[in-house]
Amino acid sequence: MKRYHVTTFGCQMNEHDSERMKGMLRSLGYAEAARRGDADLILFNTCSIRESADSRFIAHLGEARRLKRERPERVVGVGGCWAQSLKDEVFERFPFVDVAFGPGQVHRLAEFLISDSLTAQGYFEFEGFTGHLPALRARPFQGWLQISVGCNCACAYCIVPSTRGREVSRPLAELVQEAEAMAADGVREVTLLGQNVNSYGRDLPSRAPATGPRAGGSPATRPTFAGLLAAIDAVEGIERIRYTSPHPKDMREDVIWAHAELASLCEHIHLPLQSGCSRILKAMRRTYDRQRYLDRVALIREHVPDVALTTDIIVGFPGETEEDFLQTMEVVEEVGYDGAFTFIFSPRRGTEAANTAEANVPHPVKVERMQRLVELVQRRARERALRFVGRTLEVLVEGPSRTDPDKLRGRTRHNKVVNFTGLAAPGELAQVRIESATSQTLSGEESLLARVAG
Ligand code: 5AD
Ligand code: SF4
Repeated sequence: MKRYHVTTFGCQMNEHDSERMKGMLRSLGYAEAARRGDADLILFNTCSIRESADSRFIAHLGEARRLKRERPERVVGVGGCWAQSLKDEVFERFPFVDVAFGPGQVHRLAEFLISDSLTAQGYFEFEGFTGHLPALRARPFQGWLQISVGCNCACAYCIVPSTRGREVSRPLAELVQEAEAMAADGVREVTLLGQNVNSYGRDLPSRAPATGPRAGGSPATRPTFAGLLAAIDAVEGIERIRYTSPHPKDMREDVIWAHAELASLCEHIHLPLQSGCSRILKAMRRTYDRQRYLDRVALIREHVPDVALTTDIIVGFPGETEEDFLQTMEVVEEVGYDGAFTFIFSPRRGTEAANTAEANVPHPVKVERMQRLVELVQRRARERALRFVGRTLEVLVEGPSRTDPDKLRGRTRHNKVVNFTGLAAPGELAQVRIESATSQTLSGEESLLARVAG
């Protein structure tokens, strides 16, 4: 039996693509190898979001070259955003690569493997959603549901629109069916995935208005993200819904209300800020300003007071002054995020912000800003986490704790990691009394009383 090894870089979309790759390879009769050196098929699912992602991957590729030299009949495949951003250049620069394919083009990999092709092949057409392949899920009770591919935004720093193409939404009925199938398969928590999830449906045809004498001229309707959330909420067996990532410009009130109204929609919103300075936001082409972002946050907090908010922030975007940066710090202080991913700006191939040499922020300045930002993010996250101490929260158990094998690990609906003592099994929803909190994690003890009662 042939064996494969997949290494995944980048976002959850890539992790999901890798699960589908594994599902597809299983159906072709391949088994998973624990180590790259034991594999006949060496695959990389790559990311190109920042320079650091590129360089991490290139180091791994070096090992693949060595393994291929050792046994030339081995197949080396490179998929994902890095491959897409370089296209056929991949083969010129790395001649030992046999097959390269863009993000989501998992079925193309299958085509290559079945065809026994002897020449290197590249597959880089955008084809909308093509992966109706069974996923080999890392945990049977958590599943990803890809609701759209691509992105119609033009953020000046971002490579994604060029690697994943224009936005294409999947039909609502198809998504509900897939969620039902996942639930039947034991999935309790589903995460809706898209580059910009809350613009879901804008590219879909509207349902024709009802006609006939009693129709009353009802307007044509198009599926919306809020409508999709309600439809997935109605699926029996799905107890938690998450989604990532929304864009603040598309964060409509109906989605915020959905958080207040739908039982399975979690109290967590990841709302990428990128910068707290309106001038920089404009240069980034984010299409909202500081005030509009803060208004969205206020509306969210009004309807869902206990919500956890997390964000993405870039420091050192070209032209960012100390004053601009301080405005970002102010927003972080004011919003009080439960967590944030912070990034140093890095220029990406072909993006608008890659050609701004004269406006570049010196690296040491970027690093120093980053340090101040991380400190503030951590302080606010710790302060926010203290509100959970003393409360009993529902935790979806994921497995043993990474730091202490005698403990369990899981996540609250707020997406906080909890390490706790208890008896629950992976996949169960436990009631955990929270005893302490740091900026990153909570710890506590399972309420066995609730367990007996439940
Ligand atoms: N440089 C730094 N950070 C970036 N991001 C996207 N592109 C870049 C870049 N060129 C960050 C954004 C985005 C997250 C996934 O990565 O904050 O939300
Ligand atoms: Fe990386 Fe972005 Fe591609 Fe995800 S979509 S793999 S984060 S470049």
